[in-house]
Amino acid sequence: MKIFLDTADCEQIQKHFASGLIDGVTTNPTLIMKSHRKPDDVYQELKDMGLTDISMEVVADSVLATVKEAHRLHEKFGEVTTIKVPCTPDGLQACHDLAKEGIKVNVTLIFSQVQAILAAKAGAAYVSPFVGRVDDNSFGGLCLVKEIASIFTKQNVFETEILAASIRGVRQVGRAFEYGAHICTIPPTIFDKMYNHILTEKGMQLFEEDWANVSSKM
Ligand code: G3P
Repeated sequence: MKIFLDTADCEQIQKHFASGLIDGVTTNPTLIMKSHRKPDDVYQELKDMGLTDISMEVVADSVLATVKEAHRLHEKFGEVTTIKVPCTPDGLQACHDLAKEGIKVNVTLIFSQVQAILAAKAGAAYVSPFVGRVDDNSFGGLCLVKEIASIFTKQNVFETEILAASIRGVRQVGRAFEYGAHICTIPPTIFDKMYNHILTEKGMQLFEEDWANVSSKM
C-alpha cells in the first residue's frame, strides 16, 4: 500500500515527504505547467530530496520519439525514473519496448478495463485509472479500480500495479485501496485531510483539558 503525491510543487512535496509516509510522486504536463519550472529541474530536485519513484510524463508524436525521450530521462535520473505514457497504440508500443529494457512505465489516462488489460500486456509497471475524471463523466471511477483489480487477481497479473489517479477526496483514497489499488496518487491538499477526524480533534481537546487538571495537582 503506497501513497504518492500528485503534484510538481517541490515545496509541498518536501513538506510531506518529511513525514515518511510518501512513497513517490506523479507529475503530468498540467502539473509541471503549474509549477512554472522546467520539468528536468523539478525531477532533479525531487531526486535530490530522496524520492525513489518519480513519474515523468513523455509527450511525443511517435514511438521512436517517446522511447528516445524515455532513454534520455532514464539516463539522466536513473532508477528513480518511471516513464509515464498515455494509453494509446504508440504509448503502449513504447511501453512494451521500454519494459523489455527494464525501464518502469506508468500507463496513464486509463478509463476502461480493456485499456488496463492492454497496458498490463505491454508490461506496464503501473496502470493509472483516472477515478475523478471517470466520475465526472457519470461512470464509477472506483468501480473501475475494483474491476481492474478483480481482473488482475483472476488472471494472476502480479507485475502491474494499479495506481489510482485523479483522486478528488479522502473517501476515494480509502475506497480505492479497499477495492484493490496498490497505490493512490493524491494532491497534497487531500493528503493533508487524511490526518483529520472530528473525533480525534475532540478527543485531543478532552485529553488536553484533563491533563491540565492532572498537572495542576502534581
Ligand atoms: O495523476 C493524474 C491526475 O493528475 C489527474 O487528476 O484532477 O486533473 O483529473 P485530475
